[in-house]
Amino acid sequence: MDSRSTLFQEQGYLVLPGFKSAQAMQALRDRAAQIIDAFDADAHRTIFTTNEQQRQVDAYFMGSADTIRCFFEEEAFDAQGRLRQDKALSINKIGHAMHDLDPVFAAFSHGPELAEVAGAVGLAEPLVWQSMYIFKQPGIGGEVRWHQDASFFDTVPQTVTTFWFALEDADRGNGCLWVEPGGHRGPLRERFVVQGAGATIEPLDATPWPETGTAVPLEVAAGTLVVFHGLLPHYSAANRSPRSRHAYTLHATDARARYSPRNWLQRGPGLPARGFR
Ligand code: FE2
Repeated sequence: MDSRSTLFQEQGYLVLPGFKSAQAMQALRDRAAQIIDAFDADAHRTIFTTNEQQRQVDAYFMGSADTIRCFFEEEAFDAQGRLRQDKALSINKIGHAMHDLDPVFAAFSHGPELAEVAGAVGLAEPLVWQSMYIFKQPGIGGEVRWHQDASFFDTVPQTVTTFWFALEDADRGNGCLWVEPGGHRGPLRERFVVQGAGATIEPLDATPWPETGTAVPLEVAAGTLVVFHGLLPHYSAANRSPRSRHAYTLHATDARARYSPRNWLQRGPGLPARGFR
């Protein structure tokens, strides 16, 4: 068996340095900057945070499955509701269908190299549901508490796999990923499901989240691809440094598994999820 497959099965993640070129990363960065530039900050003040037990989820978020929307950092505004800093330094993320709708993002998100890695980690028929450009802004980049991505993409059997691209060097100073090696063998602790017009977190298992002692920081250079299992617990701290920590993520499931109708992200017939090729 491929050594990457073995490693992925044992530790629940793979770190692949040098996966993306400086040129490809710059193109994505430039395109993200253009999207923010065109974004009307005053019209949309939805804040994205996973800190709250019950996430603030509104129609703006729920309607972002098949479009391209910008979400603010939680700490972007002052007490009067004004941006504390420039709009370009206030956005938490862009989501969730750039990989299908935007030519620059689509080029970054597809190709034989990605399809090959997907195959090596067990996705025989990948379907890429979601893309996110995550900024982790200097000074105000929010913490993302411990979670498992399978909470958001429930399939039977569990197949969701995360493709996390470092667009800048990520280290403990600017809020890199932390993971629990082998933690993907533990249970799914909670599930994020549609409820009425919004969504809610359904507790499933009381297994505690990893302690600092058992978690490891993934300090990686720009261009690195980190692939991780949907049950792998992961976390990233707030970014209080003067440096940003841009990353781009894709979430894929296997078409052979049953995709839950209770997942918040659904695609209609006009924009079906497709693979990496
Ligand atoms: Fe995650």
